[in-house]
This record gives sequence, C-alpha cells and structure tokens, in this order.
Amino acid sequence: MLDLKDYGIKMWDDDKIASFRRTLLTWYDQEKRDLPWRRTNNPYYIWISEIMLQQTQVITVIPYYERFLEWFPTVADLANAPEEKLLKAWEGLGYYSRVRNMQKAAQQIMSDFDETFPERYEDILSLKGIGPYTAGAIASIAFQLPEPAVDGNVMRVMARLFEVDYDIGDPKNRKIFQAIMERLIDPERPGDFNQALMDLGTDIESAKNPRPDESPIRFFNAAYLNGTYDKYPIKLPKKKPKPLECQAFIIRNQEGELLLEKKMQGRLLDGFWSFPIIETSLIGQQTNLFEDTTSLLKPLSQKDNFEKSYAIKPTWTNRSFKQIKHTFSHQKWTMTLVEGLIKKEDLPEGEHLHWVSIDHLDNYPMATPQKKMLAEYLSNER
Ligand code: ADE
Repeated sequence: MLDLKDYGIKMWDDDKIASFRRTLLTWYDQEKRDLPWRRTNNPYYIWISEIMLQQTQVITVIPYYERFLEWFPTVADLANAPEEKLLKAWEGLGYYSRVRNMQKAAQQIMSDFDETFPERYEDILSLKGIGPYTAGAIASIAFQLPEPAVDGNVMRVMARLFEVDYDIGDPKNRKIFQAIMERLIDPERPGDFNQALMDLGTDIESAKNPRPDESPIRFFNAAYLNGTYDKYPIKLPKKKPKPLECQAFIIRNQEGELLLEKKMQGRLLDGFWSFPIIETSLIGQQTNLFEDTTSLLKPLSQKDNFEKSYAIKPTWTNRSFKQIKHTFSHQKWTMTLVEGLIKKEDLPEGEHLHWVSIDHLDNYPMATPQKKMLAEYLSNER
C-alpha cells in the first residue's frame, strides 16, 4: 500500500473524513443533476454512459446514450450488432476503437461471464477497453463497491484538497490520487460519492473557471484555506514528442523469409520483434562514423552501418516504399524502408535473431510501427 506521508500528504482523521462524506453527499442530494444514467443500476447502461462521457460532455451524450440503448438494449444485442450499425450509433463521437472494444467486451461477457455483466472489480477491469477509471465507475455506481473512479476531474479536486505537489498529467502519479480516494470514499454510498466529485469537478471545481467560494467542501480544501488555490493542481506542460528518424531494413533470404530481431536493450520496443532498425539521428553520435579505408573521409550511410553491425553485405534492391510515421507519447518516428537480399546461410539464427516466413509472422509480437512497416512492405510486394 502506498503511504501518503511519503508524498507529503497528511491524511485526515476518521472524524474529519466522516464529516467530509456527509458534507459532500448532502450537497449532492440537493444539487445533483438529473441524468438518464442516474435513474438506473443497470451496469450495462452505466458502462455505455461512462464510455460516451469520456469523449464528450453530458449534454451531447444524452441523445447518443438514448439511441444506443434503443438500438442495443442488452449486452447480447451489442455483442451481435452488425458493424455498420455499431459505427452508425457512434457517428460523431469519434474514436471508433472505443465502440469496437465495447463490442468485444460484450462478446467477452457472453462467452466468459455467462452472459451476465460481471460484478467483481477485477472481472470488470478484465473487459476490453475498460481501465481503472471505468471499472471504478461501474463497480461503485452499479454494484455499490467502494472503488474510486479517478479521472482528471477527481485528481484536480484532490490536488486542491490536499495541496498535492505532484503533476496530475503524469500517469505514474495516478496512484497517489487513487490512494487518497481509497481513504475518502464513502463505503455506504460509493457511487454517489464518485458522482458527486464528478459533478463538482466539471462545474464549481472546473479547471478553467472554478468558483471556489461556492464549493460545498471549501472548508476542507487546504489550497482554498491557505490561499494557494491558483497553484493547484500541478499540471506541467506536455513535452512535445521528439522527432526521431530511422531506417528499417527488410532483409529477405532465398526462401522468402524475413529477418526479425528481438529488441532487448532497455529501450522503447523491448520484448517485441522488429525488423533491424538504425536510428539515423544516432549515427552522428557513433565513433566509427568515418571510414578510413580511403584517404577521403566519407560518412557512413545507414546501409554501411547495417553491414558493419551485422557483418553481412546484402544485395540492396531498388524497391521504394512510402515513409512510415508513428507517434508515441514522447517520440515521433519517421521510418524509411530498404530491402536487402542475403543467403540464409550467411546469417545464422540466434536466440534474438530469427528468419520468419510471412505465414508465421503472426506468432511474433510486433509493436505498431513495425506492423505499419510490414503492411507497407506487403502491400508493395511485386
Ligand atoms: N462524467 C463521467 N461520468 C459521469 C457521471 N456518471 N455523471 C456525470 N458526469 C460524468
């Protein structure tokens, strides 16, 4: 268990926590918004609403929510929905992967959970597309389990309450807010407790135009009481993804197999299989940058670099490929592909170096940029 003291947070005693719960829930009982998904305990309905609410605001969600449940009234209907109708139901909301994941989760419920929405937090979390926030929301609202639902709104409210000096934009700090909420959440009314904070966070305690003097919990709020309200939450600007250029080598042997290596260097794509890649941006940092076999200093090309690293000299083909782009949260990759041919016996396999036929590529986990490269390579096959 995380110890909040290690993060400079002094948790309240039991009396203060009880008083906080009473204050928040009394306010909620008087002020709560009347929303369609608040008139039900049906976990399926609540799930739909929570996924939709991750994309857009309450007022936009309402008609989508109502139509969705008309078209797909049960988990079984969603599991069996034709793709076109499913996408139609989501049209305008964006992020279609969310609704596709929902259908997969509905199919999981049908096959793995006896056609009934699971009631245990861990089981809910195991469904496709459901992370800790959504699992917490469903568990608390539909099943009255004391599980926090920590999203950006809740983190903002908690950061102000306790003057949390940790960046709410950094995913590794989420556990701090989760731990605070685990202490605070009302075990008698966990769903209402979570939803009260959602209501507060989207209105009185909003990010842009908060009205701290109107907050029902202002006298619990350390930032409000200490005059540091403007400082919290700490939210550092997101670093721009760093551009990174690399060359990928699709090396083929006479049997049509491709060379894959498994990355094990403590870097981004560790554990995945990959076509050999050399970062163009790294080449400038290498010491053996210049060949000294001729009197002229000539920069090494990526191909030369590849030949040196793998101690082979492929025959480079002149096939041309589209550049591949892929953005990770912190790196923006631009990849160029080249194809080289070598004899299988010139490069023996090892634990981390395999020759793989196209039919067997599926057995090798690859990260998205590698999949994009493969798709480009195969689509371009002559
Ligand atoms: N935002 C996310 N979930 C919500 C809920 N249940 N009620 C209101 N706003 C929300």
